[in-house]
Amino acid sequence: MSSKPVYITTPIYYVNDRPHIGHVYTNLVADVLARFYRLRGDEVFYLTGTDEHAAKVVDSAAEHGVSAQEWADRNAAAFRETFERLQLTHDDFIRTSEARHKDAVTRYVSQLIASGDVYLGEYEGWYDAGQEEYVPETKAKELDFKSPINGKPLVRKAEKNYFFRLSRYQDELLELLESEEGPFKVLPGARRNEVVARIKDGLLDVPMSRTGAEDWGVKVPGDEEHTVYVWIDALFNYLSAVDTDDRRRYWPAAVHLLAKDILWFHAVIWPALLLALSRRPGNEWIGLPETIYVHSFWIRDGQKMSKSLGNFIDLEVLDGYLETFGWDGLRWFLATNGPLSTTDSDFTEANLVEIYNADLANTVGNCFSRVAHMTERYFDGQVPARDAKVEADQEYDGAAAHAVSSYLRRMERFDLAGAGASALELVRAVDGYIDKTRPFQLAKDPEARPQLATILYNCAEALRIAGLMLWPFLPQKAEQLWRGLGCGHLADQLANNGRGDLASWRQWGELPAGSPVSKGEGLFPRVDKKKYLARAEAASTSAAASKEANSKEAKAKQKGSGAAPKKKAKKEPGWAEQIDIQQFFETRLAVATVKAAEAVPKSSKLLKLRVEVGEEERTILAGIAKAYSPEDLVGRQVVVVANLAPAKLMGIESQGMVLAATADGNPVLLRPDTEVPSGTRVS
Ligand code: ME8
Ligand code: MG
Repeated sequence: MSSKPVYITTPIYYVNDRPHIGHVYTNLVADVLARFYRLRGDEVFYLTGTDEHAAKVVDSAAEHGVSAQEWADRNAAAFRETFERLQLTHDDFIRTSEARHKDAVTRYVSQLIASGDVYLGEYEGWYDAGQEEYVPETKAKELDFKSPINGKPLVRKAEKNYFFRLSRYQDELLELLESEEGPFKVLPGARRNEVVARIKDGLLDVPMSRTGAEDWGVKVPGDEEHTVYVWIDALFNYLSAVDTDDRRRYWPAAVHLLAKDILWFHAVIWPALLLALSRRPGNEWIGLPETIYVHSFWIRDGQKMSKSLGNFIDLEVLDGYLETFGWDGLRWFLATNGPLSTTDSDFTEANLVEIYNADLANTVGNCFSRVAHMTERYFDGQVPARDAKVEADQEYDGAAAHAVSSYLRRMERFDLAGAGASALELVRAVDGYIDKTRPFQLAKDPEARPQLATILYNCAEALRIAGLMLWPFLPQKAEQLWRGLGCGHLADQLANNGRGDLASWRQWGELPAGSPVSKGEGLFPRVDKKKYLARAEAASTSAAASKEANSKEAKAKQKGSGAAPKKKAKKEPGWAEQIDIQQFFETRLAVATVKAAEAVPKSSKLLKLRVEVGEEERTILAGIAKAYSPEDLVGRQVVVVANLAPAKLMGIESQGMVLAATADGNPVLLRPDTEVPSGTRVS
């Protein structure tokens, strides 16, 4: 047991998006680690949260007709609810719009200014708006001036900013990164090498403020025109959350978990900021984080996940898997088959079913039910005492100790796949032991009863210990397993982020004879792969169809309910729900003629149209700017919803909606086959 608390962080997520498998994955990895350390007896502080001061939050809030704060509130709640629903056990959830964070950022920035590492300068460069990040000239060229993350064009941007003298830290950072001993490690090593190579190309100073931001973010102390750049603001969350008298002892973080998309900020800018801060008086406690662990991406069927390809694993899709595999089944798959190395992991249903069946149904579940069944049958459901020698004990003896040691080593290296394999190794050793000692044969011989007792004791005890290793991955099922072996107190002690005592719990012989054993319901019912895949295929085809039909409606709903998790797609084929003709006629569709069109300032999606509908003229905002320019539209006819209640978008009242089909994420406007008088009803 180490005395220093273990501080684990995840990225804080942008609130303009809804939580999806990627966010859940990083928080799951953090959860498995946090549980592991708690099981070991360590004090853990696991932090997650939301990054709210991005410019795109202001944009999407405006597009939805609400304030940035309101938009952030709704979406932050969606993240929090998701993580809580999935029983991910963070100890705190920080939002950058909270006073505790903003006050701390103001303090840190004042200290940086006082340090002489900040100056006012001019910056011009290629900006990746989706990432809120400048891309260096050479890199921008390599990327063909497109975002490597979302493929959208980089924009040329010039600003007067406060700059942080990152260049000053070049040598120091290189030395830190290249030293094997720490105190600052970037893992896996290949990621560290990437960073080192890029630092060697030369470090430029980085902007740390922007101007022209609406009243959203943290002002630069002493210069109210400037707002602290969202990335600097966000990185500070790791410190602000623990910068109180009772929490400073958590720092430095044991590990910052994140994916490769945000490696640079964490491996270069963050330590440099910390070095600068740590040199201010009173800040001696601000050392460097011990480890930055960088994982890769979940991809889908060999492709990048994308909303427009329809292969995106959002919460709705995950919920669909929960029914079949349970959350523990899914946790196991994600944690042991995830992209913790430098390669991306492909999420396929075939893999999910196979891993679930092989590791959980056929190994853990099956072995437990074998052992429980025999104990119920031969010993009235009580763990027997072990007092006889059994021949095959020799090789079996060290199996648990060996598995636990390799498990510990692997966990400490963030090797979740390896640690999971160590747990299964012990379960397989139990199976092997049963096959070799053949208790079901011995049971026929009354003389062999002492041997039979010892064998079943050994099996149950090994499963109890395997349960310890499995618990961080499978908290509910490990609990069920322990309760089935009469040692539910292990789970009780670990509940509510409680701390365990692995050093003594792992000792062979801790399971008392006489413990009540019951098989209960199976731990992991087998899933028929063929049937499952056939069903999944059918469901995904119909879900895609109904998703498309519902997407307009879903958007409208989202406006009211924020980013609350979507309802599960209906399983019935074709369109989700039928309406009668009366309901259809409630929507007044009409042909309109576009009289004028213009861009909406500060919005990349919206165009403002002036349309004629019969006698009337109306203003309608349409999210079509990506596919149409204003001059293409004047004079053409479109189809509008004429009786839609007006809504304010970006401060402009929109009096209706223009119909478009969405193909590959791009809007395609509808128009009548030949020109008709404007106002003509469509039905
Ligand atoms: O970048 N596979 O937030 P973000 C695995 N606010 N992990 C994925 C993933 C995928 N396909 N997609 C996303 C930001 N992630 C900043 C961070 S931190 C001070 C500020 C996970 O909402 C992964 O952890 O874009 C990745 O680094 C993170 O989500 C990016 O989340
Ligand atoms: Mg991102």
